[in-house]
Amino acid sequence: MKTIVTSALPYSYSMPHLGNFTGSVLPADVYFKYLMMRGEDAIFICGSDQHGTPIELKAIKEKLEPEALADLIHGQIKDAFHDFGCTFTHYGKTHSEANRRVVGQFFDALNANKYIVEQASTQPYCANDRRFLTDRLIEGTCPYCKSNEARGDQCNNCGKLLTPSQIIDPHCNICGKSDITFKTVKNLAIALDKLQSGIKKFITSESKNDWTKNAVNKSLSYVDEGLKPRDITRHMKWGFPVPLKGFEDAVFYVWFDAILGYIGITKEWDEKRCDEYWKDADTRIVHFMGKDNIEFHTLMWPGVLLGSNLGYRMPTTIRASEYLTSKQVKFSKSKGVGLTIDKALEIMGPDYWRFVLMYIYPETADSEFTIDLFVEVVNKIMNGKVGNLVNRVLTIAASNKALITKSNPGKYEAEVEKMTKRYLEHFDRFGLREALHDLVALADYGNELMSTTEPWKLAKIAAESKDAASEFSSIMNALIDIIYKLGIMLHPFAPSASTAATSYFGITGQPHIRMFGTPHEINYSMEIKPIFGKITDAQIEMLEKYT
Ligand code: MF3
Ligand code: ZN
Repeated sequence: MKTIVTSALPYSYSMPHLGNFTGSVLPADVYFKYLMMRGEDAIFICGSDQHGTPIELKAIKEKLEPEALADLIHGQIKDAFHDFGCTFTHYGKTHSEANRRVVGQFFDALNANKYIVEQASTQPYCANDRRFLTDRLIEGTCPYCKSNEARGDQCNNCGKLLTPSQIIDPHCNICGKSDITFKTVKNLAIALDKLQSGIKKFITSESKNDWTKNAVNKSLSYVDEGLKPRDITRHMKWGFPVPLKGFEDAVFYVWFDAILGYIGITKEWDEKRCDEYWKDADTRIVHFMGKDNIEFHTLMWPGVLLGSNLGYRMPTTIRASEYLTSKQVKFSKSKGVGLTIDKALEIMGPDYWRFVLMYIYPETADSEFTIDLFVEVVNKIMNGKVGNLVNRVLTIAASNKALITKSNPGKYEAEVEKMTKRYLEHFDRFGLREALHDLVALADYGNELMSTTEPWKLAKIAAESKDAASEFSSIMNALIDIIYKLGIMLHPFAPSASTAATSYFGITGQPHIRMFGTPHEINYSMEIKPIFGKITDAQIEMLEKYT
């Protein structure tokens, strides 16, 4: 079986903040690393979502070509993900030749299969800028709550969904003027109404494959309301041109080429192998995303795949996270400062962020990031529970090597095995945060074993007492086994610390879960160094700058 793991494609508009990262790229990377540890045949596809109005506008403001701006930010994002230890098979982009071809091919197929329809709609037009304004470029007063924070698609104050024509006293968000008229424009749409029964069938059958509840519920409620044709073009300049007469002034809507970007980016990676993965009946496709991306992946995307009928696999598993929020540290980049992923790495190394963010990963409910929580997880859990245990066991073992004799697995090892099994089972069902908590539970077990049996005391009397000597040896064998396994289990969450911990056992490179069962001995010639440290006051201060 093959697996394609994807993460929602971040907009190459600005550097993602920690909330974005935790919503999709991080869990996807953690899961992909787990599959690699299992030796699965899997690829991890992600890239920058380069089209859309915000990028076009920012380019106008910065006097750059949209493509140049999108590529510039794409490069920065790619580097930051790399620094975060993410191991994509390919991190590509949507404005590529490969994706342009894919988009064209799917459009032609949808058109030939009669799933492309024309739709007239009224769209606001700014006479001053001489351009159509997309929903978000219209601002004004909300017809419901009367706040002046209404945008063409939604009111920022009361949250009601809006259409541009509902806005009272609309003005243009580019020039600020009110020279706005509503014109009728033709757009092309994908006829999701005609694909409705296929989409519903898809959701009902595939959602058995461990979809998150929010994804199942949202998707079914949308389908039951009845699907409508959905625009796939926009009247603007930045984007892929629409290859159809009468649409020379339009480009494809950002979501259409972004979602097809999964395939386009795989093609950009390897033209031939792309189809080997995407068209194999034995391929599983796992999409990670934030909950605001659900409908695009469960309605529009399957609609595109079904309607085009080009033989590409449908999604298997949809993992939509809830939001990671923070009142304390600003994650929002629209509001200015905000802790972005590159800034986060200036404060603490990637292992710390990855571990903490997965420890509080909003898998089933929103969760709140606070500085206190960050400090507590770093100091008490990473350093206090996991790091210290590894260090103490190595130290005690090194100074009492002669007393440790290989023995058959004793009573402790059975418990350890149960705990590692739980970790694997959670991972297999996408319980990523639970798997990390299983790892911590194993460290807890090791610490408890250490404090209740006090092996260092046994070592002191081992010369006189045969019982103490054998007890010492069996406890140490269990503890060594625990830190060896912890080292392997850390890999998806804290890859550098995992490398450090497993190196004491002669493991170089990526660990494999097969290694749980292989004999392991400590390489005593290595200097023992902590795998995690505590957070410093200076680091806390730096974090506080983002409040
Ligand atoms: N750029 C979108 C966002 O950040 C996600 C696009 S995901 C894809 O919300 F499915 F279109 F690829
Ligand atoms: Zn204007």
